[in-house]
Amino acid sequence: MRGVFITMEGGEGVGKSTQVRVLADRLRCLGATVLEAREPGGTPVGDRIRGLLLDPTAHMSPATELLLYEASRAELVSAVIEPALSRGEVVLCDRFYDSTTAYQAYGRGLDVDLICALNATATGALRPDVTVYLALPLEEAMPRATHGGADRIEAESTAFHRKVIEGFEQIAAAEPDRVLRVGAHGTVAEVAERVWAAVAAHPALAAIAGRR
Ligand SMILES: Nc1ncnc2c1ncn2[C@@H]1O[C@H](COP(=O)(O)OP(=O)(O)O)[C@@H](O)[C@H]1O
Ligand SMILES: [Mg+2]
Repeated sequence: MRGVFITMEGGEGVGKSTQVRVLADRLRCLGATVLEAREPGGTPVGDRIRGLLLDPTAHMSPATELLLYEASRAELVSAVIEPALSRGEVVLCDRFYDSTTAYQAYGRGLDVDLICALNATATGALRPDVTVYLALPLEEAMPRATHGGADRIEAESTAFHRKVIEGFEQIAAAEPDRVLRVGAHGTVAEVAERVWAAVAAHPALAAIAGRR
C-alpha cells in the first residue's frame, strides 16, 4: 500500500521543525515507519543547494532563488520521497511547495501560475495528502526565529514576512481539505496536541490514527 505524505508549513520560527519531530515520534508509537525530510536539502545535491540558499552573503535574483528551491525539491522527491511512499512509509516533510508559493510568489512577487507550474515539474505532480499550516502572528514568531542569528531569508524585512504569512493564509483558504490550519501559539505540547487532533481526524491518516 502506498504511504502517506504529510508536510509541515508556515513562516520562520513558528515551530515547524519542533512539531515535525513530535509528530514523527507519535506516528512511530502507533507503529508507522516515518521518514523525516526537510526542504531545502535532504539529498547530497540538495544540501549543497541549501547552503547557497541560506548563505547571507549569497546574493541572487528572485528567479535564481526560485529555481534553486525547485532543483532541490526535484532531487528530494525523486531520490527520497517517492521511494519511501512506494515502500508504504509515512513521509513527514519540513516545508514543501507551499513554502515556494508563499515566499517566492507572495513574498517576492513572482508569478503564481509560473510557480505552480514549476512546483508540478519539480514534484512530478506529487501532492501532499495532508499539510499542517502552523499559523502564528509575526510578532510571536519573530522572537522564536531569531535565536542563533538570522539566515538569508530570516534577515528579510518585516513587510516581506507579512506577505509570506498572507500567502500561507490564502493557500490554506483555497485548499481546506488538504491544508489544516493549526494555531501555533502556546507551549510545544499544546501545539502538538492541536496538530495531532487535526492530523488524526484527516481521512488520509485513518488507518494509522485508528490504531490508538
Ligand atoms: N511552542 C513553542 N513555544 C516556544 N518556543 C518554541 C515553540 N516551538 C518551538 N519553539 C522554539 O522556537 C525556536 C524555533 O522553533 P523551530 O521548530 O525551529 O521553528 P521553525 O522550524 O518553524 O523555524 C526553537 O528554538 C524552538 O525550540
Ligand atoms: Mg525549521
